[in-house]
Amino acid sequence: MTSEKVEIVKDVYWVGAIDWMLRDFHGLWTPKGGTYNAYLIIDEKITLIDTVAPNFSAELLDRIRTIIDPAKIDYLICQHVEPDHSTAYAAMLEAAPNAKIITSKRGAEYLQKSFPGMEFPIEIVDDGETLSLGKRSLKFVQIPMVHWPETMISYMPEEQLVFSNDAFGMQIATPYRFADQIDDWYEPLRSYYSYIVRFNAAAVLKAFKKIEGVPIKIICPSHGPIWRKNIQEITDIYYRWSSSPEQEQAIVVYSTIWKSTEQMAHAIREGIASVGVAAEIYNLEDEQLSRVQGAAMEAKAVVVGAMTYNIDPYYPTAAFMPYLKHLRPTNKIGAAFGSYGWGGGATKVLTGQLKDFKFEEVLDPLNVQFRPSEEDLKRCYEYGQEIGRKVKAAFS
Ligand code: FEO
Repeated sequence: MTSEKVEIVKDVYWVGAIDWMLRDFHGLWTPKGGTYNAYLIIDEKITLIDTVAPNFSAELLDRIRTIIDPAKIDYLICQHVEPDHSTAYAAMLEAAPNAKIITSKRGAEYLQKSFPGMEFPIEIVDDGETLSLGKRSLKFVQIPMVHWPETMISYMPEEQLVFSNDAFGMQIATPYRFADQIDDWYEPLRSYYSYIVRFNAAAVLKAFKKIEGVPIKIICPSHGPIWRKNIQEITDIYYRWSSSPEQEQAIVVYSTIWKSTEQMAHAIREGIASVGVAAEIYNLEDEQLSRVQGAAMEAKAVVVGAMTYNIDPYYPTAAFMPYLKHLRPTNKIGAAFGSYGWGGGATKVLTGQLKDFKFEEVLDPLNVQFRPSEEDLKRCYEYGQEIGRKVKAAFS
């Protein structure tokens, strides 16, 4: 039972669920949990925007009951059919038997296919259509591929408020519902964007075009805190990540068994840093890959290292490569390095992948047999310097 009530503007409430124990959101590392946001609008037509993930229907209904009897709900707005937002429709329709589900044509199709055998009372809305709720209204804007084909957002012009679904979301559980109440939102927002949204960055830019000039004071996403103070800052960040996220930074990532590749990684990082480029290093065996993916998104150069295991890159690095691919890293400089015992092979595979991912430039790989000598480490340092200079040149 919950009594927590959060009013965003008059008669618009957050009524979602807090998943304090969430640590893995279908592959996204969520060390501080997450939320599934739903919003209740009290007007002549009582309206619920989105629902919550499996196992959280009771929390959603409890929260609604602190404001109104759920049986009075007229509209259930389905902006996105992924189960973290749509699973509770069955419970909602039981509690609100007169409600209609309002969704896009594709949303209707996906809902029926997601719940085979269930009959939903669906009313389809077109792109740009407005639904009057009484004193307020909702305009539906379809933003396909941000990040599913059926995704739409809902704009309330009377409050200049947008229900943005997954866009501008992050996974973090806190006692606070507004972004201006927390300090540490940048990395969770970046991780969420890089893991879930970045692959469809072109669709985000199209969506920006579609809402150009629309005044926005409040953004209510379907995960994480609500944005009400720094709208310009957050939209600028999203635009940058969707167009050209690269900063004057590099990251060196690696995996190793007997530490030779690790020695190389540190020497390369130091070489990059020596020319004045910020460079981070990640041992992929000790890291959550989605966290490293966020850092890789903002790096101009990504340097991937692995020792050769039989004939391939050691598994942690091999596992990281799809994360890199899904960033669509076409504006990046790439390089591969690693140690081997006899036949080698890891850096050849990694270099081929960097080229396949369409990196802007891929350096010839750097290999060391067995343990790096002083001379080898000097080569690694100089390799880092070369990478660092290329990063510098890209920003000069
Ligand atoms: Fe939060 Fe794409 O679901």
